[in-house]
Amino acid sequence: MKKAKVIYDKEFVIGQVDKRIYGSFLEHMGRAIYTGIYEPDHPQADEMGFRKDVLELVRKLNVPIVRYPGGNFVSGYNWEDGIGPKEKRPRRLELAWRAIETNEVGVNEFVEWAKRANTSVMMTVNLGTRGIDAARNLVEYCNFPGGTYYSDLRRQHGYQQPHNIKVWCLGNEMDGDWQIGHKTAHEYGRIARETAKVMKWVDPSIELVAAGSSGPKMPTFPEWEAIVLDHTYDLVDYVSLHVYYGNPEKDTMNFVAKSLEMEEFIKTVISTIDYVKAKKRSKKVVNISFDEWNVWYHAHLEGKDQKAEPWAQIRAIAEEDYVFEDAILVGCMLIALLKHCDRVKMACMAQLVNVIAPITTVKGGIAYRQVIYYPFMHAANFGHGVALLPKVNSPKYDSKDFTDVPYIETVATYNEEKDEITVFAVNRDLEEEMQVEFKLDGFEGFEVVEHIVYESDDIYKGNTQDKPDNVVPHKGGNSRIEGNVLTSILPKFSWNVIRLKKKEN
Ligand code: AHR
Repeated sequence: MKKAKVIYDKEFVIGQVDKRIYGSFLEHMGRAIYTGIYEPDHPQADEMGFRKDVLELVRKLNVPIVRYPGGNFVSGYNWEDGIGPKEKRPRRLELAWRAIETNEVGVNEFVEWAKRANTSVMMTVNLGTRGIDAARNLVEYCNFPGGTYYSDLRRQHGYQQPHNIKVWCLGNEMDGDWQIGHKTAHEYGRIARETAKVMKWVDPSIELVAAGSSGPKMPTFPEWEAIVLDHTYDLVDYVSLHVYYGNPEKDTMNFVAKSLEMEEFIKTVISTIDYVKAKKRSKKVVNISFDEWNVWYHAHLEGKDQKAEPWAQIRAIAEEDYVFEDAILVGCMLIALLKHCDRVKMACMAQLVNVIAPITTVKGGIAYRQVIYYPFMHAANFGHGVALLPKVNSPKYDSKDFTDVPYIETVATYNEEKDEITVFAVNRDLEEEMQVEFKLDGFEGFEVVEHIVYESDDIYKGNTQDKPDNVVPHKGGNSRIEGNVLTSILPKFSWNVIRLKKKEN
C-alpha cells in the first residue's frame, strides 16, 4: 500500500473561511429557472410556483449566496421587464441562449426564492447593452427604503422592506466576443468605474465585483485584470474568476490534476491585484470572487446543446449528466479554493439546478442529486472556521499537462467555536488505496466522529432519473487517532471527509 504524510498545525492558519466560498449560481439559461426552481403546475409547487423538492435539496447543500440572473444572459437583460404584474411583463427574444424569456421570474421573485432556500442574492448588473442608469436604478429599487421613484415602485409591488442586496457584480465576462456588448479592457474598466461609483453613491454599504477574465486561456489574461483594476481599484472589492474543466480525451489522471491549474490561476490573479495595489500605493486589499467554476463538457460532447431548437420558451441546454470522476475533480477544486481562502472570499459553483448543476429536475417529476452534489454539500456543511495549511509528503505522478501531481490532495478546517476539525482529502490514485498519517500539531485530545467516503466501483457511473441514488457516500471510512496522529486509509480514487471533535472529559 502506498503511504503519505501530512502535517497540520493549529498555528499555521491560511485564513478565515468566508462562508460565501460555498456560493452558487442561477442564470436565466436553459431549465435553471423555468422547470428548475420554478414550475407552477408541478405537484410540489408552493404558492409562488417554486418547487419545494428543489428548495429542500438546495437547503441541504447549505449555499449561503446565489449569483443571479447571469451569466451571459444579463448582458442583454432589462431588469424592469421582470417587475410588476406578471400579465403585463413582456416576452423577449433572449439572445445569449436563443430562447424566449417570459419574465415570469424577476428580481422580487428571486429574492423571495432565496429566502425560502435559506440563502442570499449576489446580483449582476447589465454592462453589455446598458450601463450606469439601469444599474443605479436597480440598486435604488432593491436597497433604498422608500420615498423615491424606484423604491416606492418596489413598495407598490408588495415589498415594503428593502431587499438589502449586499454583493453586486459589474457585468459578466466582458472580455469575451460571445458577450452582448463585448468590450476592450479599457472600455470595460471605464464603464465599470463609473457604474461602481454611482451604485455606491446610492448605497455605500454594497460590495462590488469587477469582471475578470472568462478564463486563464483568454489571450487577454492577465493584462485584462491589470487594466480593469487600474481603472477601478479604489471602488471594487473583488475581481471575478471563471473556469470550467472537461475530460473529452478521457484521460482521468490528467483531468483530476486540473485543480492545480485552478490554483495557478488564483495565484496569478492575486499577483496581478497586488501589482496594481503597489502601483497605486494603496493600502486596500482587493479579494477574489471565483464566481463560476465547475466541470462542463458532457452535454457539449454529446451534441445535446446543439440539437436544441432555438427560440423555444424552455430549452434544455448544458444539462450535464455527471459521472463519478467529475465528483473527484470537484472535490479537488473545493480544496483548491479553501487552500487560498485568505484571498478567495466568495466562489460560486456554476450552476445550481439543471444547467451544469448538482441538482437535476424532471419536468412534472422528481428532483435528484448529481454525483457532484456530495463533495460540495460536505464542504459547505463542515468546512467552516479557519483553513489550516497542509504540508504534504505524498507519492506523485506525471500526466499529459502536469508534472509532480501529488496523489493526495488535502486541506483541513478548524472550527474554533465548536472545537471541531474537518480533514478533506482526495486520493487521486485509480489503482491503490493510500495510508495517510495526518499529524495534527497543537490539537490534543481529539476523537474521530466519522470518516465519510465517496467512492465508486466504476468511475463513469452517475446518478440518473431511474437510479437517483446510484452513487452515494458512506460512513464506513477507516480512520483512527492516537495522541495527535490521525491514520486514515483513503480508498483508491476517493473523496474523504474525516471529522474530529474534542473528547469530553
Ligand atoms: O454558466 C454558464 C455560462 O458560462 C455563463 O453564462 C457565462 O458567464 C459562462 O461563459
